[in-house]
Amino acid sequence: MIYFDSAGSFPVLDEVKSSLIESINNYYANPSSDHAAGTEAHDEIEKVRELIAGMIGASTSEIVFTSGATESNNLALKGLLNSQVTEGKKHIVTSQIEHKCILSICSYLEKIGYEVTYLSPCSTGIISSSSVLEALREDTALVSIMHVNNELGTINPISEIGKLCFENSILFHTDAAQSFGKLPIEVDELNVDMLSLSAHKIGGMKGVGALYVRDARDIDITPVIHGAGQEIGIRGGTVATPLITSLGKACEVFPNQYRNASFTGLKELLETELNARGITYSINGSEGLPHIISLSLPDIDVMTFLLSHRSEFSLAQGSACSSKEVEASHVLKAINFNREKAERTIRLSFDFNTTTDSVKTLVEKLWRFYSN
Ligand SMILES: Cc1ncc(COP(=O)(O)O)c(C=O)c1O
Repeated sequence: MIYFDSAGSFPVLDEVKSSLIESINNYYANPSSDHAAGTEAHDEIEKVRELIAGMIGASTSEIVFTSGATESNNLALKGLLNSQVTEGKKHIVTSQIEHKCILSICSYLEKIGYEVTYLSPCSTGIISSSSVLEALREDTALVSIMHVNNELGTINPISEIGKLCFENSILFHTDAAQSFGKLPIEVDELNVDMLSLSAHKIGGMKGVGALYVRDARDIDITPVIHGAGQEIGIRGGTVATPLITSLGKACEVFPNQYRNASFTGLKELLETELNARGITYSINGSEGLPHIISLSLPDIDVMTFLLSHRSEFSLAQGSACSSKEVEASHVLKAINFNREKAERTIRLSFDFNTTTDSVKTLVEKLWRFYSN
């Protein structure tokens, strides 16, 4: 099986696996307990909090551990809108290309009386800061725009968007699940008030992530999960020490490995091979993160190819079966793909185990399928 779905989940790094086991063995005590074993577990968590804060230019008191980016996004949006900071303001600005979890949070917020503006991207998949500015209103409570899009790999101008939100005194959240550990992030440079991240996109475990909240101690955020005061009262539940240790390990080792990986070379090889085999293709979205490629193959029945090669390749499709019919993904729809074009689109995302042979094999199999 050749895995091309690191944007779905990055393979867990060996260092992460070892650190997880070590933490399970060493830090089994409840980190809220007063005894020495509890204090050790607590200190271990604080070490990782410091590491993450350092990576993004934040203070330790601004990092809240969660179960992943979905929960962080819920906490950011619902937690803030339920608080007094945004009282009386009923408008939210987001985009059509956000991860489904943001869209479903917004759809819930609409049901309870908020109005949401969903910005369209330009044809290359970018949300412009001018479109955000145009959408702002007197009653805008919050803007939430993702950093890197998970289907296209495109990078939004977060720093510009954050600046204009700041100038208009509007809080700004970014979903950085796909960019954390891959792009440099400085919360002050990006002008963000809140930022979501997830471990399993950087070779860590599923089920752990964090939310950065600017001045978390002073800002009035209502928890989504009420509990016994953990995480400065913002997120209840016993803090998952082993998962957090392993997130810390992923933070330590992933960025360097990512920087040194030859994703651009693999992408160039993909194009060379497609050209050599005479396969027509296009790459969607403007230049973004090098390990994510949204690839359209107009002359290939991609859905049938994927079905017949299910056990050979793990690839994400540009379309999905809804209850009634095949539908283009919401991201491809937003850049004006029709169903047929989306059906012929795949997302490849490379990881540290992807080799030149993996890429060559894929193109060869595509070519064989196409020639038959
Ligand atoms: C942009 C983006 N946001 C949020 C999520 C959800 O993250 P998690 O699986 O940690 O809840 C993902 C993962 O698919 C993502 O790509």
